[in-house]
Amino acid sequence: MTTRVITNIAELTTNDETLGLGPMGRLHDAAMVIDEQYVLWIGPNAEAPAADKLIDAHNSAVIPGFVDSHTHLVFAGERSEEYEARMSGAHYDGGGIASTVAATRAASSDELRRLSHHRLSELLAGGVTTVEIKSGYALDVAGESRLLDIAGEFSDEVTFLGAHVVPEEYAHDREGYVDLVRGAMLEACAPKSRWADVFCDRGAFDVDEARAILVAAREAGLELRVHGNQLGSTGGVALAVELEAASVDHCTFLSDDDIERLRASATVATLLPGADFSTRADYSSARRLLDRGCVVALATDCNPGTSYVTSMGFVLAIAVRDMRMSFDEALWCATRGGAKALRRDDVGHLSVGAEANVVILNAPRAVHLVYRPGAPLVRQVMVAPSASWFSHNAMITDE
Ligand code: NIG
Ligand code: FE
Repeated sequence: MTTRVITNIAELTTNDETLGLGPMGRLHDAAMVIDEQYVLWIGPNAEAPAADKLIDAHNSAVIPGFVDSHTHLVFAGERSEEYEARMSGAHYDGGGIASTVAATRAASSDELRRLSHHRLSELLAGGVTTVEIKSGYALDVAGESRLLDIAGEFSDEVTFLGAHVVPEEYAHDREGYVDLVRGAMLEACAPKSRWADVFCDRGAFDVDEARAILVAAREAGLELRVHGNQLGSTGGVALAVELEAASVDHCTFLSDDDIERLRASATVATLLPGADFSTRADYSSARRLLDRGCVVALATDCNPGTSYVTSMGFVLAIAVRDMRMSFDEALWCATRGGAKALRRDDVGHLSVGAEANVVILNAPRAVHLVYRPGAPLVRQVMVAPSASWFSHNAMITDE
């Protein structure tokens, strides 16, 4: 195994409080040693040991790779006209999903691979090194299964979202579609997925439908996540907590009871500011969640309808500027918080023994990610092989 020493790190965020200052475990004038798989050593620059290769960070900041725990990357087509209409006052109700379903069903697998690859390249260029990918734009047995196969070529964090909306051909037979999702579709898709998700909201699936699908998925061996409370106080948060889902995502509408439920549970509240931005919704109450001690994650929700966003920097900028998270809170939520939403302890931090997913910035402090919104601040990314697509496509320059 080749070892690399990264020297002259002006500010190193480890997210491991045993390694440095405060909850972010921050070190200044630091160095670290990694091999292709793991973090091996962290310490003062003056004590950096020798390694096979040298990467000089030139007094830049280093952070753990972002963990994007919510994307819908595998789709064809685009919906910019819908975005324009929303900016002129139209409301989002999930209705546009059908047009992406039509485009995705019509696309070849190679085309879907090419499009997914392109979106992943954008995520990586912004410092993402772990990604969750959902199906949900085919809504028939063979199509959902195909999307999961493609997602699985890029990530192990693959989510079956057959219950995204009821497709047009079942518009008059909702019950038939719910039965299909928890029956033949689940049977075909469970072996290809780690997770199951349901869009539990107005215009999608109600709480009872969502519960029936999620319980069946759990019986089929899948772990659970929920799209909840995006469009109203529609019960998704309570359902996610009831079923001990790993995460409930969106949380744009949250009652005090919802927040108390989340606080008392192991379910992470994943906030998707890109979706609130692109639908001109109010942002989620990040402060209420954090001040009550809930575990929060931030993710892109990359999808063609409500958040065609591949920049975690943009998500952080909104979280800090408009949701009043401190920069450190936002950085933690987009790294360690995302890892918790995926029940992963090996990514999202740079403890010794963690995966060597390391981002070197073109900036002396990580806060430049929000201080200089839109700037291309990621200089180099190293990724452990377990995230195979990212590892093959990472940007490493040895000196
Ligand atoms: O996370 N909320 C449901 N699903 C997506 C939107 C999908 C779409 O509009 O295509 C989301 O926002
Ligand atoms: Fe989503």
